[in-house]
Amino acid sequence: MASEEQKNIDYEQGTVSAVELHDSVRRENPLHPGGEGTVGISVLVASAFILILGGGQLFSTSNGFRDSIYISENYQPTPKPSLGGADAEGVAVAWIVDWTKDGKKVYNNCIACHQASGLGIPGQFPPLVGSEWVDGGTARLGAILLHGINGPFKVAGQSYNQLMPAWNSLNDEKIAQVITYIRREFGSLPEGDDGVVTTDMMKAAREQFSGQATPYTEAELLAIPESENLPGSKVDLETGEPVGGGEPVAEG
Ligand code: HEC
Repeated sequence: MASEEQKNIDYEQGTVSAVELHDSVRRENPLHPGGEGTVGISVLVASAFILILGGGQLFSTSNGFRDSIYISENYQPTPKPSLGGADAEGVAVAWIVDWTKDGKKVYNNCIACHQASGLGIPGQFPPLVGSEWVDGGTARLGAILLHGINGPFKVAGQSYNQLMPAWNSLNDEKIAQVITYIRREFGSLPEGDDGVVTTDMMKAAREQFSGQATPYTEAELLAIPESENLPGSKVDLETGEPVGGGEPVAEG
């Protein structure tokens, strides 16, 4: 009895018995029931799958890791249609496609104000879309592009009062291309009008408006008849060759 009592005194520390304390610790679940430090088989399989797929993809898109693709003598460019009107296979590119493409490049000079959309900036720069100046004849447009405009100036019922710069430093071809571009892209043209302005027409315009020394006022531009077109023959949209003798070809 005396020894039994002795034991209890040894186990008891303060109010909690050391045996009870360890019992509660033993009841807890271990952190990794599957065994410490192992990775589930499904994770391994998934990783292997991703590595194999990824490696295969890399291999097939890098030409089998061969360095020959980086050596320029093995480089074979895909043939592009030439700008001259036909590509290697003889497929014709219509003249008008190139003409308006070049016009779009010249239009880069205009987007700061009239915007790539041709909608302008309300209150500051007028739109080309829905503008009676773009929809009308080419004489007014030729005059505007060559010598610019000094506001106030009305477009589609709205008044603008800034300076439209003169573009007479651009050659006749470039001005003809940009007018063609804005008419075909943003204009709503009269029946039978293909929107094209040619280099010859701009040459005539430079002549016709050579007396103008300052940017146009609205009144001066209104004095040019709205539907007046620049002189010059129409061209075949496929070939760019002149058709007819200066007069629009009658249809039907
Ligand atoms: C610095 C800004 C600016 C640039 C760049 C500019 N314009 Fe203009 N443009 C104007 C303003 C402003 C007017 C309106 C007249 C005014 O207030 O003087 C105008 C008017 C016009 C008009 C007649 C009105 C209309 O909206 O239809 C046409 C057409 C036109 N511009 C075409 C062009 C083309 C094509 C280019 C590029 C080659 C160009 N503009 C570049 C500011 C500009």
